[in-house]
Amino acid sequence: MTAPDAALPTSFRAVRTHVVDGRTESRLEALTLDELSPGEVVIRNRYAGVNFKDCLSLHGKAKIITGFPRVAGIELVGDVLHSDAAGIAPGQTVLVHGFQTGIAFDGAFSEVVRVPAAHVHALPAGLTPLECATLGVPAFTAAMALERFQMEGLRPDSGPVAITGAGGAVALMAMGILARTGHQVVAITRRMEQADALRAAGASEVLDASELLAAPPRALEKPRFAAAIDNVGGPMLSWLLRSTQDQGCVACVGNAASNSFDGSVLPFIMRSVKLVGIVANAPWEQRHRLWARLGSDWKPDVERIIPQLSFITLDELLPFSEAQLAGRNSGRALLRFDTP
Ligand SMILES: NC(=O)c1ccc[n+]([C@@H]2O[C@H](COP(=O)([O-])OP(=O)(O)OC[C@H]3O[C@@H](n4cnc5c(N)ncnc54)[C@H](OP(=O)(O)O)[C@@H]3O)[C@@H](O)[C@H]2O)c1
Repeated sequence: MTAPDAALPTSFRAVRTHVVDGRTESRLEALTLDELSPGEVVIRNRYAGVNFKDCLSLHGKAKIITGFPRVAGIELVGDVLHSDAAGIAPGQTVLVHGFQTGIAFDGAFSEVVRVPAAHVHALPAGLTPLECATLGVPAFTAAMALERFQMEGLRPDSGPVAITGAGGAVALMAMGILARTGHQVVAITRRMEQADALRAAGASEVLDASELLAAPPRALEKPRFAAAIDNVGGPMLSWLLRSTQDQGCVACVGNAASNSFDGSVLPFIMRSVKLVGIVANAPWEQRHRLWARLGSDWKPDVERIIPQLSFITLDELLPFSEAQLAGRNSGRALLRFDTP
């Protein structure tokens, strides 16, 4: 239990997820600190990213949360109210993501959050709290993919990089980071009405996912891409593998469409294509390295992201997350706790 502290609120609002009669139910509640999972650091939340995975958790659409009741929300930026840990001081602005936040530990969909000190990052240099929250897990994930591509030899002149689920948050950040680092980006979306917005966000070409998948599949397609970030899985991942050029690399990031895909060995044995997995819950060394880059030479042009950024409140979270799962939202969404 956290030591009593006059500055700590006695009660605060959170969206908490329960299982009732075998059904997942999320609701807005008033909580006290002692109802949260243990930790040495208490944070006044400023911004929580609303991720696809969080939406699955809130509506019980996948087995993500490991113990109930649980406050979901895998990432936040906020100010320390109380700390029992050396090196973390009240008033400091911090970032928390991964380490089972919002899964095995209570997470970000709460005005006040309590976390283990071992899960707390200092705000990265070169980013304001709002910039850091805007980039968040989606940009960190995209940066992991780019770092892996570079290890596999990708350079700006290797060829275009494809990004699927282009209307989503990971794609938005990936477009910004790749544009900043001199890569040509091909955005692939089911919603061509977003084409102008995707070009404004950094894509040099926009392709219609439905058209690509409607064509009769060939054993190997025209080799178009030096690398690809796949956010959707299913037939799109198979198509990307068949469309990747010699020695190219496909990063499997997400499952917005499906957990599975059908494949052929031909891209691997005819073109030396690599398929790599990305998990944003990275070790500390990589977190420090990539957040330092996201605050400096890989920092996307935030002005290009702002038109795709939406703010919601705790009261709006549940209907918003339903729309997210239905693929009706686009860009990056932040739950905002401070006053604009
Ligand atoms: N590996 C990791 O560590 C990691 C980290 C972050 C996110 N992820 C995963 O990466 C994926 C993308 O995350 P995100 O934050 O960008 O999600 P998001 O903001 O919800 O965007 C997902 C995008 O995928 C497309 N999409 C949605 N439903 C679809 C469907 N049924 N079939 C085909 N396409 C669909 C949509 O793009 P269009 O409408 O433009 O086609 C949508 O904008 C999610 O699966 C997420 O869980 C994984």
